[in-house]
Amino acid sequence: MNPNDAAIGRTLIPAAKIRDRIAGLAHRISDDYAGGGLLALTVLRGGFVFGADLIRQMDPEIAVQVDFLRASSYGDRTTSAGRVDVAHPPPVEDRDVLIVEDIVDTGRTLESLQERIRNHGARSLRTVTLLDKEGRADRRCTLDYVGFRIPDLFVVGYGLDYAQMYRHLPDIHVLDHGPRPEESP
Ligand code: XMP
Ligand code: MG
Repeated sequence: MNPNDAAIGRTLIPAAKIRDRIAGLAHRISDDYAGGGLLALTVLRGGFVFGADLIRQMDPEIAVQVDFLRASSYGDRTTSAGRVDVAHPPPVEDRDVLIVEDIVDTGRTLESLQERIRNHGARSLRTVTLLDKEGRADRRCTLDYVGFRIPDLFVVGYGLDYAQMYRHLPDIHVLDHGPRPEESP
């Protein structure tokens, strides 16, 4: 599909609601890691806005370190690629790793990342995702912290893209296909 055929649709989750929910997640995570530290591994590119906001709401007493995972993306498609490549996986041996994901759909991306991190000797592994698409019963990945459960819609904004566009939007929107109504003849 041509990126020009897509348009930003209605707001699904406004920025203020995202901010409040992240404060709650950061609070829970801070409680769970109290007295220790964690390595926040943000999955690029989509997780970068969420990761940045999440770590800044965590308890300053926790020793937080950050690194990034680069997983394969959808390209211009809006259905799962079902194939995951990881470029330059960071060292995780004996670390308490928290994977920071933007969105989980089929769970294949996350399943593959979790397997890799466990195999590389992480001491512990948990995962936080901002968005969890409902209705996927056959997943084999583990989700420890979930921001919002959403319907099976393609969403953009707050780090999430369509064809590398719309990552900068502060709210999360549904992506509409087809020409904008005002452009229709
Ligand atoms: P799976 O199916 O492996 O897919 O759980 C997870 C990855 O697919 C991308 N994804 C989306 N990206 N809007 C996006 O911008 C969406 O609605 C969406 N659904 C899945 C995303 O990269 C995620 O990590
Ligand atoms: Mg992603």
